Order: sequence, then structure tokens, then C-alpha cells
Amino acid sequence: MIFPTEKDVGLRELLAFYAEAGVDEALTDEPIDRFAAFEARTSAASEARVAEHTRVGQANTARDQKPGRQRAEAPSVAPAAPVAVPDEAQVALARQQAAASATLDELREHMAAFEGCNLKFTAKSLVFADGNPHADIMLVGEAPGRDEDMEGLPFVGRSGQLLDRILAAIGLDRQSVYIANVIPWRPPGNRTPTPQETEICRPFIERQIELANPKVLVTLGGPSAKTLLNTTEGVMRLRGNWKTHVTASGLSIPAMPTLHPAYLLRNPAHKKFAWRDFLEVKARLRSLADS
Ligand code: URA
Repeated sequence: MIFPTEKDVGLRELLAFYAEAGVDEALTDEPIDRFAAFEARTSAASEARVAEHTRVGQANTARDQKPGRQRAEAPSVAPAAPVAVPDEAQVALARQQAAASATLDELREHMAAFEGCNLKFTAKSLVFADGNPHADIMLVGEAPGRDEDMEGLPFVGRSGQLLDRILAAIGLDRQSVYIANVIPWRPPGNRTPTPQETEICRPFIERQIELANPKVLVTLGGPSAKTLLNTTEGVMRLRGNWKTHVTASGLSIPAMPTLHPAYLLRNPAHKKFAWRDFLEVKARLRSLADS
């Protein structure tokens, strides 16, 4: 029998600590020191500012030394400033990138290139969407989990399988719906996304809804309803009642808030509520098709 050494025990405790903290899988074979990468970027940007400051200062001095010139005031360029970008700037950038996307493909490209949300750096994939972007119905969940991150597709894990069964019960499948999430990157350890992360990602999902322009939107779970229906009410009170999602350009889309499949897996007795909500959705789709 091989007894663990003191070093092995230490490693085991460290791994247990990581698992507890939600670090449950390796994303790459080699470790990446993101602090060092951030510092390198920060100091490169700082150096560029200092160089620019010096260049402008020297140009001003040369100009002031020309015969007949008055002594110039101090150079007008501010000294090198810290490079940390506040979240407001990231929200503004996300808005700008979302608005600049004329198609869903462009939106996906802009999101893939966006570096303003920390979740991107711990996730393996951008989980953009699944299904048919021309479908009459769009479903929006909260954020991808482990299985979704691995496959790069929303709702492929256990809650996705339940969602498929619910959709089948009203005659739909992945080809007749379009599915996305408020947050397109898996939060580490499936933790709840922070309000800041949600605000940074909000312009993207809003634009995705606007570009897909479904006849009916279904929000899955409380966070999706709160984000897209502009409400603070709990999902138990919201569910089953038609609401309206208003897009940035003023389009109004009927929206049905319902319970999240992951919640239904934990509370199977509440499936009856989701069933009623989806029957409402089916009836609405029928009446839209008939009109
Ligand atoms: N839960 C979500 O909200 N979205 C997914 O894609 C998977 C699980």
C-alpha cells in the first residue's frame, strides 16, 4: 500500500479547496498567469502614454525655442493615467458593439471579440445560441453551465433535456425555437452572475432578441425575467402573465415569463405551472399564425 506523503495531502487539500470554490475543471494543459498578462498590458499602455507625453513635450519645447516665440505654457497633455477601465466603459462598449451589429453573425463576432466581461476569461466557449434564428419563439435562460460551456450550445445539460421535453409537449423542437442566454459565458463553478456582469452582457442579449425578432419571447427563470422585462418582481408572481419586452429601437415583443427548467428539476411539483405557461405560449403562437 502506498501512503500519501505530506506533499500529497497538501495537494489534496488544495484541490478540495478549489472544488469547493467552484474551480472544477482545467481549461488548458498549461497554467496561464492572467495577473502577469494584465500587468504587461497595463504597463505597455502606460509606457505608450508616457512616450506620447514626452514626444508632445519635446515638440512643444522645440517650437518654443524658435526665434521670436513667446515661452509656451506647460504641455497640455495630461501625465500618464492609470489604465484600469471602469465597468461603465465596458457597458458603453458592449452597447456600441451590439448596436454596430447588423446581423446575428456580426453580433456573434463582436461578442467573441469582446474583452469587457471577466467571465469570458474563465469560460471555455462563447455560448451564443441554438436552434432556428427565424423561429416564431425565442427562449432566454440565465447563463450556461458546465455542459453548455463544453459544447458551446445553450441548454444541453439536464435542464436542457427537460426543456426539450417541455417543448415537445407543445409540438416544438430545437429547429422550431431559438434559444439563448442573458449571459453568454459560463460563470465559474456556475455561480450567480453579478449585477455588473449582467449589465455588461445586457446590450448583447437585447440586440440578439431585436435581430431575431421573434413573435413571442419566453424568459426562463427569475434572472432572465428581471433583466428582459425590466422588473424586480419575483418569478413566482410574474410567471403565467403576458408581459412586453421593449427593444432598444422600440419594438414591442410579447413575453411569457416562466420557471427555469433547473428549478423544475429541483421542484418537480411545480412543473404544472410551467405546463400552463407553455400552453399559453402555444395558444398565442396559434392565434398569431391564424391572424
Ligand atoms: N441554464 C441556463 O440558464 N442556460 C443554459 O444554457 C443552461 C442552463
